[in-house]
Amino acid sequence: MKLKTPLIILNVKAYKESMGKRDLKLAKICEEVAKETGVNIAYCPQQVDLAWVANEVEIPCLAQHVDALDPGSKTGWTVLESIKEAGAIGTLVNHSEHRMKIADIDVIVEKSKELGLCTVICTNNVVVSRAAAVMKPYSIAIEPPALIGSGIPVSKAEPEIVSDSVNAIKELNRDTVVLCGAGISTGEDVRESLKLGAEGVLLASGVVKAKDPKRTLLDLASGIF
Ligand code: G3P
Repeated sequence: MKLKTPLIILNVKAYKESMGKRDLKLAKICEEVAKETGVNIAYCPQQVDLAWVANEVEIPCLAQHVDALDPGSKTGWTVLESIKEAGAIGTLVNHSEHRMKIADIDVIVEKSKELGLCTVICTNNVVVSRAAAVMKPYSIAIEPPALIGSGIPVSKAEPEIVSDSVNAIKELNRDTVVLCGAGISTGEDVRESLKLGAEGVLLASGVVKAKDPKRTLLDLASGIF
């Protein structure tokens, strides 16, 4: 299973609202909305739920993080081989809540290619987006940290960081899919993001903390054109 664009990725982080059974419930809602609307939706379960959630849904699942290590004597770390075995089709890398060294990001991107996994490198500005593009990951998600969890959409608050990242990334590598995130919670936010050149969005709190996650996701999906 591969990711397709335009794309919505829901990362449920470590919120109480997305733990255990609630994690699977949110994944099932994503699956339902994907089936009903035809919109591509991928899901990042909580790390401890990855294996069972990935095996219960037909939409693609990604890990929230992996470490740049080989399997073996590595207590408490997560390796790419484990997430593949768990049913993930790829992983987020360098999320702003889980930053990594550039050398480790490179190891993960290269090893993911060998293992047939997708990488979505999260970046915080245009310079870092450009550095990430050199590694030719499957995708780069530009997310200004100050807007994460704020409910203020990057597409409105900092539209130029999205369009400038799209230009910088595509100049270096046309194949890398550009996503944007931070504060995205409505169909209009998605529409605006796509108009800025993004090929999809990465989001969390807008759905995880919504009173009615399905209704919110349907609205988000309506912004995909
Ligand atoms: O990984 C998604 C992200 O960091 C954006 O979070 O809550 O602003 O949608 P949020």
